[in-house]
Amino acid sequence: MQTWFEEYKTIIIFLHIISAVVWVGGMIAIKFAVHPVIQSIEEPKIKLGKTLHIVGRLFNLVMPFIALSFICALLIIKGVGYTGGFIHLKEAIWTIMTLNYTYMYIKRILAQKSFDLGDFASAKEHMRLLPTILLPINIVLGIVAIFLGVMLRG
Ligand code: HEM
Repeated sequence: MQTWFEEYKTIIIFLHIISAVVWVGGMIAIKFAVHPVIQSIEEPKIKLGKTLHIVGRLFNLVMPFIALSFICALLIIKGVGYTGGFIHLKEAIWTIMTLNYTYMYIKRILAQKSFDLGDFASAKEHMRLLPTILLPINIVLGIVAIFLGVMLRG
């Protein structure tokens, strides 16, 4: 193990784990606690407006943690000298999750633009796959990444 890593490993691993907590936990909270309650709002315009606002806040909140998780992962790999399949699998999972996140981020911006122009049908269409497919995919991948992290630790 590298000596610099020995010195900073607690903080680096802590930052890697807290990033996972915020990113994956944030998505789970929105999907299972916030989204069902939003569905109970009867006025469609308010429902969509609030959904866009909440999802926008989540996406901005997790953005720095996505970068942080990867930077810390690289430091851990260099510091410990990890090699092998699980590392590449985690890299692949992170990449898919980040691409999916970027797609959702863009879709939300497009939905917000349509919403602001009063085109609610188009705004709704942009957001359609988020709660049913895209967010669940990232939740499952995030949980797999956490499990692989525990396995890597041994
Ligand atoms: C996709 C988002 C990711 C999540 C949610 C995540 C989650 C976690 C968690 C919770 C742990 C702690 C396990 C424990 O303490 O027992 C961990 C450890 C680890 N992760 Fe990640 N991780 C992610 C991405 C990555 C990436 C991209 C890599 C490398 C390419 C990586 C490499 C590692 C390594 C090497 C460990 C072991 C640390 C140690 O030796 O204690 N992770 N990960």
